[in-house]
Amino acid sequence: MGKSIYKLFAVSPPGLESFTQKELEALGIRGEMVKGGLDFKGGLEELYKANLFLRTATRILLRVAIFKATTFKELVERVSRYPWEIYIRPDVPVKFRVTSRRSKLYHTKAIEERIIRGIMQRVKFEPLIAETEEEGESVIVKVERDKFTISVNSSGAMLYKRGYKKLVGEAPLRENMAASMLLAAEWDKSMPLVDPFCGSGTICIEAALMCKNIPPGAFREFAFEKWRIHDPQLWEKIKEEALSNIRECKVAVEGFDISKKAIEMARENALRANVQDCTNFAQGSFPRLPFKEAFVVTNPPYGIRISTAKTQEVYRNLGRWIRENFSRAKIAILSPMKKFVETTELPLEKVTSFSHGGIRVGLYVGEILKI
Ligand SMILES: C[S@@+](CC[C@H](N)C(=O)[O-])C[C@H]1O[C@@H](n2cnc3c(N)ncnc32)[C@H](O)[C@@H]1O
Repeated sequence: MGKSIYKLFAVSPPGLESFTQKELEALGIRGEMVKGGLDFKGGLEELYKANLFLRTATRILLRVAIFKATTFKELVERVSRYPWEIYIRPDVPVKFRVTSRRSKLYHTKAIEERIIRGIMQRVKFEPLIAETEEEGESVIVKVERDKFTISVNSSGAMLYKRGYKKLVGEAPLRENMAASMLLAAEWDKSMPLVDPFCGSGTICIEAALMCKNIPPGAFREFAFEKWRIHDPQLWEKIKEEALSNIRECKVAVEGFDISKKAIEMARENALRANVQDCTNFAQGSFPRLPFKEAFVVTNPPYGIRISTAKTQEVYRNLGRWIRENFSRAKIAILSPMKKFVETTELPLEKVTSFSHGGIRVGLYVGEILKI
């Protein structure tokens, strides 16, 4: 039997696609970047690797059907032609997510009903409907100018849900965003890593996972494990090989926060992520450190709960602390306000921006080197 090649799509938050592209390239996969992700082709091996290894993507979709339809009758007929039995099982609930733009068929609930009808004609059973995507399978339908693109979500729960973060702080950073910050800072484990506003520890934990070469998907399940085409032997082989490449992290990864509760959460999260051996979390604000060279990757307070003046003071202190404590620092800062970042008086450049929890944040990177 020939190996099937699928049309796949790695979804990444708009603004972070270039990081996902670099990660795909590192896996030997060529992707074509579009807004919101990357199109790529591959068999099960590529699908499994993308799910297991991509730190910056949110999910991996498999394109099942692409066609044009302008009537409901046509829609049901076209949908019924595809092999849904591969992905949809009578015992696994399915969540449908439909969006339609500039199309004759625009009523999303009616589109969903007809798609379910088309699927039923093919599989000869009525799919169970899920309330959330976490529950099982999800089918994502995008209609644009009458063109239907119907995909199944091979990941299940979003890929940034690695499985280690049970406890979260007030403004927790998503894991894939933390990973993007580390890629932007070019975190190469050549110097210690410090996050002076670590909160629940996301940046430090992601840094330690990278340092130890622990795949981000090592702790979780994926929707494709329930597909009829799933190849458990191949999947186990890929996972085993990845786990055999885990190594020690020899460099310090340190997180600090003014809040005692945040530090407790960070420690518990690190324990669950299996990086307690190389991370160190301590309560404190701008501590003295025993090293002079570091990566400083951080997500300072946004200033939503405290005044602008106080927030600017925090940024000013951050800039001063970096300049006074390090002879060399590679820096990445995530912030919603350019004027806060300017207060640091650090040589930073905005490399991208993206939406985080409904807030537009900029990612600023730079380096200081005292000779
Ligand atoms: C935006 S949150 C960081 C979230 C974090 N990246 C995470 O993954 O949970 C900012 C953190 O800065 C801490 N903080 C605020 N002012 C501080 C200060 N002066 N020194 C140290 N930490 C501070 C807050 O307690 C909060 O946890």
